[in-house]
Amino acid sequence: MSKVDVLLGLQWGDEGKGKIVDVLTPDYDVVARFQGGPNAGHTLEFNGIKHVLHIIPSGIFHAEKINVIGNGVLIEPCIFKKEISDLAEKGVDATKNLYISKKAHLILPSHRMLDAANEQAKGNAKIGSTLKGIGPAYTDKIARTGLRVGDIMEFDFREKYEMLKSQHLRLAHTLNFDIADFRIDGCAIDEYERMWLASLETLKKFNLINSEYFINRCLDEGKRVLAEGAQGSMLDIDFGSYPFVTSSSTITAGVCSGLGVAPSRIGRVMGISKAYCTRVGAGPFPTELFDATGTRLCELGHEYGATTGRPRRCGWIDIPALRYACMLNGVTELFVTKPDVMNDFDEVKMCTHYQINGQQTDEIPFEFNEVEIVPQLVAYKGWKQSLAGITDYNQLPQPLLQYLAEIERVTGVPIRAVSISPDRKDVLFK
Ligand code: GDP
Ligand code: IMO
Ligand code: MG
Repeated sequence: MSKVDVLLGLQWGDEGKGKIVDVLTPDYDVVARFQGGPNAGHTLEFNGIKHVLHIIPSGIFHAEKINVIGNGVLIEPCIFKKEISDLAEKGVDATKNLYISKKAHLILPSHRMLDAANEQAKGNAKIGSTLKGIGPAYTDKIARTGLRVGDIMEFDFREKYEMLKSQHLRLAHTLNFDIADFRIDGCAIDEYERMWLASLETLKKFNLINSEYFINRCLDEGKRVLAEGAQGSMLDIDFGSYPFVTSSSTITAGVCSGLGVAPSRIGRVMGISKAYCTRVGAGPFPTELFDATGTRLCELGHEYGATTGRPRRCGWIDIPALRYACMLNGVTELFVTKPDVMNDFDEVKMCTHYQINGQQTDEIPFEFNEVEIVPQLVAYKGWKQSLAGITDYNQLPQPLLQYLAEIERVTGVPIRAVSISPDRKDVLFK
């Protein structure tokens, strides 16, 4: 009997999860997404080609591996169809090895409209949502009014769809939202709806399953399962910088509810962090840099959202946040990505503590959004050399090895590997 290993982000998303999942996939039989939806953008690079996945698990480029979209995930059929056709153009036929939970919830065009309406209504307090309909679709799930993938096979699906849509339209009216002017990817909502309804036929071609039985049977048979997180721990609905969060459980606990596996069946928990830190969208970010160094991190790290293209906010690595994430997730090993972005830096800084109202703390305060947080920074010597061509962890420059050893010391978690370029081949296991 085997267990589910987990790989998830420890920061505010975009840590490089897609790349690492792709690299780890050969060690597994099944790769499963357990939460989130098309708000995610997971980038993979190999053979000089870049791929961005939103809903489909990052094991999809390994034809012999099964990929599962679990019950905790949200599916937007148009975006799904586009992802499938983009893969087909690259010669990947996902119809055979991608299974979808019948219990995964659907994002309707009117969920996307409500996402925009909610953001507009918030004015200056905007979350900076990706506007993929995540919040409204999870709201319907919890309110017990949502539609699930399995429902598309039912005779009365259209009737249920129309009912839910009319509720959404009423809500948009109460928010004074201008529906006539609203566009999704350049389309008026009626036009988008026609494409959305047609896209359901693509979904129907897939193996729609009770994924909780599938995953547990795999484990009974000793198959190896990797759960792929989306977003990051600091965007978690319970423990993130609420309300500047996403609407799902992005931590290890989310694997249990999002795939239907018991806590006792969780194995290794691999947490991933950049060697610095980024955030896209609004909300607190104590180590954010507003100076030339921040701009350099953004430019050298190509820190632009894989889903929205927005520039990501950049700053130093935040150890209180990282330790919090390690605690919440029970991280057993760390992956550190993108130190190569800082190759030319004279020094690299680490926030070890926060100072709040003159007091030093290493905890994330409840008032995270309200108080002024002064990051306490420690500077480390830069390594001032290219990492290109290095194939062995121990060949990394000494100052970088010291920086990594410090991350291990302050988190109390060993590093398993370091990634030094976007490419699949550049992951150095320790
Ligand atoms: P995810 O959402 O966690 O899968 O991460 P994203 O794909 O949104 O963002 C990570 C970005 O960093 C992508 O553009 C990757 O190609 C890139 N990347 C991943 N690992 C490395 C690395 O070690 N070095 C560099 N320079 N880029 C990397
Ligand atoms: P991956 O999986 C980074 C952020 C948004 C916004 C907030 C809420 O690629 O790491 P939502 O659309 O969920 O209502 O947005 O969460 N966000 C992400 N930031 N990476 C992501 O996913 C994100 N998914 C959502 O920018 O601030
Ligand atoms: Mg991303």
